[in-house]
Amino acid sequence: MAGMTAFGLGKRFGETDALRAVDLAIENGEFLALLGPSGCGKTTLLRLIAGFEVPDAGELHLGDAVVARAGWALPPEERNVGMVFQSYALWPHMSVADNIGFALKVRGLEAGECRRRIEDALQLVGLGGLAKRKPAELSGGQKQRVALARCLAMQPSVVLLDEPLANLDAHLREAMQIEFRRFHREIGATFVYVTHDQSEAMALADRVAVMDRGALQQIAAPRELYAEPATEMVARFVGRGMVLPVTVIGQEDGIVVAEAFGAQMRVRGQAAAGEERLLCVRPADLALDGTGMEARVTAAAFQGAATIVSAQIDQGEHVLRLECHGLPPEEGAAVRISVRDGWLLPAGRA
Ligand SMILES: Nc1ncnc2c1ncn2[C@@H]1O[C@H](COP(=O)(O)OP(=O)(O)OP(=O)(O)O)[C@@H](O)[C@H]1O
Ligand SMILES: [Mg+2]
Repeated sequence: MAGMTAFGLGKRFGETDALRAVDLAIENGEFLALLGPSGCGKTTLLRLIAGFEVPDAGELHLGDAVVARAGWALPPEERNVGMVFQSYALWPHMSVADNIGFALKVRGLEAGECRRRIEDALQLVGLGGLAKRKPAELSGGQKQRVALARCLAMQPSVVLLDEPLANLDAHLREAMQIEFRRFHREIGATFVYVTHDQSEAMALADRVAVMDRGALQQIAAPRELYAEPATEMVARFVGRGMVLPVTVIGQEDGIVVAEAFGAQMRVRGQAAAGEERLLCVRPADLALDGTGMEARVTAAAFQGAATIVSAQIDQGEHVLRLECHGLPPEEGAAVRISVRDGWLLPAGRA
């Protein structure tokens, strides 16, 4: 078993800084999700951990061993790291059992041990009866399980998963998410799971690392990430957050009193009187209760349990979304929006 630590890890492709000075420590046995928009460097980081890429800057440790530094990388087969690709990457002419066993044979394991590991891996992923099938005779979810079984049969200490559920429908994805948590508990390896689906990241992981344009923005437990985003990018990316400029009036008993667009609000965070700061609010934090900021309704979308009302603040360009559980106001109506909860983004981080 091994944790992983990156120190100032960097990777360039031509003009693109795919990874910029990433510092990241993953605990032994942890389930970490890597979350971020397309192109932010998630796959690049996984490929560096696996040994498929050589970094241009920094250092990478697996457990106590240095496995990569600028210009040098230990090859994948010497790392005991397994990777599951989004595309499954199964060999079409081989049976399920041969797909799983191929790498074991290459590694020189004797036939009995290979058979045992194939059988155990198939049981673990719930495919006991399908050893003789060809990949073409399997559903998408079953192929994904074979790809995972192939990885687990190698008994890696670190399992890297690159959007493993992206090709499955929503129902199967949910079922497989539960399975992934079970696999993690049963084998106890360190899991690094790439996704751009924030609810998947939050449901699965012990901690979530959010990336943007090659840089690590924040690494935190799901609840903390949601309640206390560290940057504006995280605030907007996670949980439909909105960001408002506010002026801090003062702080009392750990609660910050701030003002925005003519209204006062009590919010969470650390700040001194007079500071101009950014406040993260979510739809559920806002209320149409006749007090607060003056705004004009621009849209109302019925969604069953609530109506999502969009309203533009009269003195600014900001559009706020909030949940309305009663009869929603008409489009164009003048309303007042109060802030019931919010989080002041830490100062000095973009
Ligand atoms: N082999 C390569 N050659 C050139 N540029 C690359 C290469 N691999 C990745 N990049 C670039 O590096 C950046 C990061 O790519 P990466 O594949 O890591 O993103 P990602 O977060 O996995 O995105 P997605 O969610 O779309 O899979 C992108 O701008 C991408 O175009
Ligand atoms: Mg990717």
